[in-house]
Amino acid sequence: MWSTIYIGLAIICLQYSNVNALDNGLALRPPMGWMSWQRYRCITDCDTYPDECISEWLFKNATDRIVEDGYKKAGYKYVIIDDCWMEMERDPNTKELVPDRKRFPSGMKALADYVHSKGLKFGIYEDYGTHTCMGYPGVINHMELDAKTFAKWDVDYVKLDGCYADIHDMDKGYPEFGRLLNATGRPMVYSCSWPVYQEEKGLMPNYEALKKHCNLWRNWDDIQDSYESLNKISDYFAVNASRIQPHAGPGHWNDPDMLLIGNYGLTVDQSESQMAIWAILAAPLLMSNDLKNIRPEFREILINPQVIAVNQDELGIQGKRLKVERKIETWVRPITPVVNGLHSYAVAWASKRDDGSPYATKVKLSDLGLTSAKGYKITDLFNEENVLNDVYNVNHNISIRINPSGVIFYKFTPAE
Ligand code: GLA
Repeated sequence: MWSTIYIGLAIICLQYSNVNALDNGLALRPPMGWMSWQRYRCITDCDTYPDECISEWLFKNATDRIVEDGYKKAGYKYVIIDDCWMEMERDPNTKELVPDRKRFPSGMKALADYVHSKGLKFGIYEDYGTHTCMGYPGVINHMELDAKTFAKWDVDYVKLDGCYADIHDMDKGYPEFGRLLNATGRPMVYSCSWPVYQEEKGLMPNYEALKKHCNLWRNWDDIQDSYESLNKISDYFAVNASRIQPHAGPGHWNDPDMLLIGNYGLTVDQSESQMAIWAILAAPLLMSNDLKNIRPEFREILINPQVIAVNQDELGIQGKRLKVERKIETWVRPITPVVNGLHSYAVAWASKRDDGSPYATKVKLSDLGLTSAKGYKITDLFNEENVLNDVYNVNHNISIRINPSGVIFYKFTPAE
């Protein structure tokens, strides 16, 4: 009799753990899309800033630009509303979240329909705590209702932030919300922010749990529109690689935050540097910029097919910073094709130097960890005109020259 009870309990536990795991089959490659926060923040005054306020117009316009200007073709798919889309109060009768009546007069289902009609996916922001970071209602006491509301609105992606919440509740609460999203039957990518909030208060996040319950997660600080902020974040990912890198893979990614490219803070060289490092990190590629006014040189960087192919590589192995010498950072990521059992590699040399002329240096292939006895073919990922026709032996020294705060980004493929 006891053994029957034990078996029964074991079955219940097993079922519970299956239900509890996310396993939604989504985000097998790092998600690509556009998100409002970095560029548009919490602009809610549509009378003064009609083309910049968080409104249905903004997201419809971003959708149109993504489709018509080649971003969709390049792989960008999710149009994601960040904070500041709600009324300050839930519906007094149903307790449902209410989109701002003035700025989203057609409602979220209609906006999702629009995004879907253009072949893109629709994402939304909420917060695990009592309030979002900008003070709108959070999900904490209405988790099931909110998950169902998102499903009813045909949401495809949920970013769940962690302001105004107890960091000790998050290990249970975030998986619970993921389970509720899954229980709706609508597949929704689940982006968690719980590690940022725990780590900044000195609690080390449980990465095994994150990997199991979330498709992606914000590890660290918000990115701001400056090269300095970009460097702080890439340094964090370099220094903490041994702790966070092993947890990335198809379906579950570390998220160093949005791309700044096309905004005010980065030069063209610095933008290439962000794109290359985000490709090495297998990071989500979430633009947050004004696509209707973007300069063509930034658009070219954002839609570069060779760099995007590195980011989206099917193996999903997150790369690392291998070394820093004379303020030149070497970032390396194993990618496909795998030839005779040997990986190809994407290698980015990011200069943090500010002495005015491009810095010339030589790099021996074997110092990058390249071992193919047959040598490597080399592709310059940002500069198609730089055709490197030879097969290079691992003892060969290649010469590179890197612009101040710029990057050189090569792919090394083992020769057959
Ligand atoms: C936090 C998040 C940001 C953004 C804002 C919105 O700071 O980390 O990405 O979502 O909240 O208020």
